[in-house]
Amino acid sequence: MSSTKQTSRILAIETSCDETSAAVVEDGRTILSNIIASQVDLHAQFGGVFPEVASRRHIEVIHAVVQQALEEAHMGLDDIDCIAVTRGPGLVGSLLVGVNMAKGLALARNKPLLGINHIEGHIYSLWLTEQANEIEFPVLTLVVSGGHTELYLMTDHGQYKHLGGTLDDAAGEAFDKVGRLLGLPFPGGPAIDKLAPSGNATAYKFPRAVMDDGYNFSFSGLKTAVSRQIKHFDKNKLPVADLAASFQTAVIEALVTKTAWAAEAHGATAVHMAGGVSANRELRRTMTQQLSLPVRYPTPILCTDNAAMIGAAAHWQFVNGRRDTLNIDVIPSLQLI
Ligand code: KG4
Ligand code: ZN
Repeated sequence: MSSTKQTSRILAIETSCDETSAAVVEDGRTILSNIIASQVDLHAQFGGVFPEVASRRHIEVIHAVVQQALEEAHMGLDDIDCIAVTRGPGLVGSLLVGVNMAKGLALARNKPLLGINHIEGHIYSLWLTEQANEIEFPVLTLVVSGGHTELYLMTDHGQYKHLGGTLDDAAGEAFDKVGRLLGLPFPGGPAIDKLAPSGNATAYKFPRAVMDDGYNFSFSGLKTAVSRQIKHFDKNKLPVADLAASFQTAVIEALVTKTAWAAEAHGATAVHMAGGVSANRELRRTMTQQLSLPVRYPTPILCTDNAAMIGAAAHWQFVNGRRDTLNIDVIPSLQLI
């Protein structure tokens, strides 16, 4: 690819799940604005994300969110070099709202358009951190979110080798399902993170699923084990904190063990964590403590879904000359490689 422009001001849009977000990012590193309208309260009553409700809410707020992102960045569309948008993976109806908004803006203002992979956005959230200057390839990235638990070796910008991933539930999905079993508010991940320190992490020995030497994960057995354990108790006398702490420890042990193996086997210079579950305090602490390599992760607001990370990912593609046409469509099961 030929190099075109080395600097960029990108208006990024992210609507893949239940956050409506727009951001202005400069040179893939500096966040000029990052507006996130979360729908979490809306979906809490259903105990999970309700796809039709999500897309309807995206439609209601997308214009205001984009407007606010431009205002906070003190910019008009004329100051923007490129419009970037998440085109997958995600919920089809939700993705469509963002992609159509981006297409409309690109067409009306004759701006280049880039469709971005949501997972790549999470990976590039690390370039929005203070340690971005220190990043040297290859890095091992653990993407750990509500939809994904994947290990990628990143050998250069845009160059990934998939080393392994979940065979069933994603780690965040397991947190959310166990949170529901324990009667905690949705989403379960932050609720368990908050409650676990007051529980005994060794109270219950749940399966770790790290028996094989591959880099894959499996969390559905762990969820079933928690569900079986719960049946031993009177519903009103659940040792919620002990169960939460024991479950969280089992997830973390699996994540840290496999990440350490993969980092060592592939000569990674550092380990990056991204995605909603990387906001987990105990995961951050354990990963940092048990690995001899630098362990980096974004600030909590950049761990969960946001448009700034989409702008960061788009920067490298934009300066390398990549441009999409206005015909791009959403791809709900888009793969990174
Ligand atoms: O990255 P994200 O916002 O959306 C996806 O791309 O899936 O991740 C959302 C997931 C949810 O499953 C949520 O429970 C989990 O991240 N999560 C956490 C924490 N904060 C969010 N899990 C554990 N500890 C947390 N502090
Ligand atoms: Zn995400």
